[in-house]
Amino acid sequence: MPQHTFILNGKPVTVDIEDDVRLLWVLRDVLGVTGPKYGCGLGVCQACTSHINGKAFNPCSVPVKDLGPADEVTTIEGLPATVGRDLHPMQEAWLEYDVAQCGYCQPGQIMTAVAKVRRAREEGREIDQADLDEIRNICRCGTYNRIREAITAGAE
Ligand code: FES
Repeated sequence: MPQHTFILNGKPVTVDIEDDVRLLWVLRDVLGVTGPKYGCGLGVCQACTSHINGKAFNPCSVPVKDLGPADEVTTIEGLPATVGRDLHPMQEAWLEYDVAQCGYCQPGQIMTAVAKVRRAREEGREIDQADLDEIRNICRCGTYNRIREAITAGAE
C-alpha cells in the first residue's frame, strides 16, 4: 500500500492508502477528522471546504497522492483560536450571529470565510461585497443572510 505524508492541523501524518482515495475520506474515515462534511462528493456543495497551504479547497476532489510532506492541510479543527479564547474570531462571529440552523454545512462555510478574509488581507483590503458574492457554499437551511453578516463581523 502506498504511503502518503502531509501536515494536518500543524502535525505531520502518514497514511497507508491507495493513491486515488480522495482526501475527504482519508480525513474522516482514516484520521477521524470529521469537521469537513460530505455533501456531494463532487466539489460542488462546498460542505467539505478546508485549506491547503492557506487556500480554500474541497478535499472530496483531491486524491491523496496530490499531497506531499510540505503540504499543510487545515480543517476547522485546526483553526487557531484568538489569544486567550477558545475559538477563532470567525467562529465567535458565527455564534454571535447565531448562524447555524441544522449546522451541517457550517464548518465549510467558516473555512471558506476565513480563506476569503485572508485573501483580502493579503491584497491589502477589507472583505467586500464581491467576496461575499463569490461564495458558493450551499446551505439547505438558507442561512445565507446570517452567514454574510457573520463573515463581515468576523473579518473585523
Ligand atoms: Fe466536497 Fe460537496 S462534499 S464539495
